[in-house]
Amino acid sequence: MKFFIDTADIAEIRDLAATGMVDGVTTNPSLVAKTGRNFLEAIAEICEVVPGPVSAEVTATDFATMLTEGRKLAKIASNIAVKVPLTWDGLKACKALSDDGIMVNVTLCFSPSQALLAAKAGASFISPFVGRLDDISIDGMDLIAEIRQIYDNYETLATEILVASIRHPRHVVDSAKMGADVATLPPNVLRALANHPLTDKGLDAFLKDWAKTGQSIL
Ligand code: E4P
Repeated sequence: MKFFIDTADIAEIRDLAATGMVDGVTTNPSLVAKTGRNFLEAIAEICEVVPGPVSAEVTATDFATMLTEGRKLAKIASNIAVKVPLTWDGLKACKALSDDGIMVNVTLCFSPSQALLAAKAGASFISPFVGRLDDISIDGMDLIAEIRQIYDNYETLATEILVASIRHPRHVVDSAKMGADVATLPPNVLRALANHPLTDKGLDAFLKDWAKTGQSIL
């Protein structure tokens, strides 16, 4: 399973990329706004740090302007995945950009029928938002299971399921169990994956016992 990180904060991206766990990055207009940085410059810098797919989202809502924006974003680096919203204009833009050989991430997916359309439009990635569904008392992980089942029925659907709007490690574990291709994690969730109180407790005990031996490995 691939891990992307869901942030536009270059310091966080550098720090987490150094762990070797980061296969790509997703951004959205809200995450870019949080950094206060110039969008195009920030995306170019991220693409230099992470060689895997870096999602950069269009902000137009009509097909023609989405296409122009998408083509401009794709020129920033070869690892750009242009992110388009799951609207009819977004799907048309997805098809046109995919036909140009550009990776497309279709975002704001909340239903299996939307995911089916994105795959037919040639999306490289579909981003179902599990946390936002949980927020309205609909189990977001059920959507991942349904999309996995649909995509697995048709060899021609090559779109990768990129689980988005992840809130906690359980979302990541359940995504992996369901065979999702990618999870995009907020930095705090990626860090939390390694945490366990018994690990801390066990390490503490080992180090105390080791200190009693008075030995040193080096
Ligand atoms: C990723 O591509 C999405 O934009 C992101 O995961 C949304 O997460 P949120 O629901 O926490 O804003």
